[in-house]
Amino acid sequence: DKFKVAVLVGSLRKDSLNRKLAEALAGLAPDNLAFDFVEIGDLPLYNPDLDDGDVPAAWQRFRSDIRAVDAILFVTPEYNRTVPASIKNALDVGSRPMGESVWNGKPAAVATGSPGGIGGFGANHVLRQSLVFLNVPAMQQPEAYIGGLMNLFDDDGKIAKPDTEKFLETIMAAFATWIARHVDR
Ligand code: FNR
Repeated sequence: DKFKVAVLVGSLRKDSLNRKLAEALAGLAPDNLAFDFVEIGDLPLYNPDLDDGDVPAAWQRFRSDIRAVDAILFVTPEYNRTVPASIKNALDVGSRPMGESVWNGKPAAVATGSPGGIGGFGANHVLRQSLVFLNVPAMQQPEAYIGGLMNLFDDDGKIAKPDTEKFLETIMAAFATWIARHVDR
């Protein structure tokens, strides 16, 4: 059986370079991984009051989507040197109600992408800060700070830089090993 991996993309815009990066990563992964892109743009901002009444349908859908997978791949831009609110909100929604976190123990990988040269380093590490608390073992190496995203794809959406393509493949091979190590079968 394949390991199921939820992909969370931190950019909500339709032409997102990070979504293209996420698709590239999924395409380059070993074939024992199966990917499910889980949308986070429709999740109402986390408010504990809503967990006491009619729980928003989008939250219920999201929580069950994450419960159904073995692992998580986060692919996100950096907004103002931290994670976009969409990602933080998804973490918060999945973490509650207290004691029912959908994240607990699921292995993850974090890839950040930016047109700039720093490759979303700030967002990558801010995200890891929450993952420590949420008991999500996040793969440490190789780190994935992908800079120069503007020039990574050609007009057909294919990766134009062979070296980077090879690196993305290395990341996904390491992630498959990481998942196998952390998931009880
Ligand atoms: C950005 N961008 C950005 N880039 C970066 O490397 N570090 C940063 O701190 C920020 N801050 C930031 C804030 C906000 C509100 C926006 C909208 C953008 C630029 C960002 O990396 C660029 O727009 C990417 O193309 C966003 O990723 P997607 O949407 O292409 O996946």
